[in-house]
Amino acid sequence: MTTTARAHTNIALIKYWGKRDAKLILPYTSSVSLTLDDFYTDTTVSFNPELGSDQFTLNGTAQAAPKVTAFLDLVRAQSGRREFAQVASVNHVPTAAGLASSASAFAALALAASRDAGLRLAPAALSRLARRGSGSAARSIYGGLAIWHRGEDDLTSFAEPLPKTTLPLRMIVVMVDAGQKPVSSRQLMANTVATSPYYPAFVKSNEQAAAAMVAALAAADFTRIGELTEQSSARMHAAILAGSPAFTYFQPDTMAVWHTVQALRQQGVPAYATMDAGPNVKILTLAPAVPTIQKALSAFGGRLLVAAP
Ligand code: PMV
Repeated sequence: MTTTARAHTNIALIKYWGKRDAKLILPYTSSVSLTLDDFYTDTTVSFNPELGSDQFTLNGTAQAAPKVTAFLDLVRAQSGRREFAQVASVNHVPTAAGLASSASAFAALALAASRDAGLRLAPAALSRLARRGSGSAARSIYGGLAIWHRGEDDLTSFAEPLPKTTLPLRMIVVMVDAGQKPVSSRQLMANTVATSPYYPAFVKSNEQAAAAMVAALAAADFTRIGELTEQSSARMHAAILAGSPAFTYFQPDTMAVWHTVQALRQQGVPAYATMDAGPNVKILTLAPAVPTIQKALSAFGGRLLVAAP
């Protein structure tokens, strides 16, 4: 049998940063995200008794992939299957965008591998499985808005969809640097948790922010949604910066875009900035404001991408 599945990438409005259990990937805080329709991964999985090992291709090129094998081991354990699998993934995330593709990658792998192994998992169980590949993948099981409940253990830490919003939300991705990130999120998260004196404050404020975000989304209060989004990102990056050794993903252009967003807002344009494990800036806005923001950032030319949920 061969099974193909598609999953879309997501951007956290309320961030996930830090694991309280690295093996199970249990987070210290809940997180809320927006899944983007334009960027996705298609993955085909085929468990095959004739294979002597797992095989993985990304965009047509064979790759050594210990993380894929470790993930397939989980699917084999859950399903009782013993065969190795052929896995072919194609990323439709513009490679230059520098957007995290691990979320869509592991969500697509969870969907395709579990189905191909004969498992028929409900969404929460799929989300728990995807979580084991990459935390943010737990949220990419769904389109639109999702909340990943931190939970207490493996069974209770999963994402769920949030009600559809009437707001015409848009994300403008500003590609500051398309290169490989200098430090993986996995490594840096562990460092922030272990060494940043600001980390406990981030956890406390972020958990409250997740609940506040659910309320703001339900009320379609864009100003509040934007403020919470910008704050969660700023507090995550402050905690990262305060770790030992001190570190930031930001580059000069990250801050230049950030200042432009602040200036736009002073002029009444609904725009809020959020950054992840890299220097690129994502601007949360509403559809009617997109042309104004594009114009203000025209210096970035072709390095602006507009995405919708
Ligand atoms: O899923 P990971 O391990 O790549 O971590 C993602 C971390 C952030 O993108 C910075 C925040 C988030 O919630 O997606």
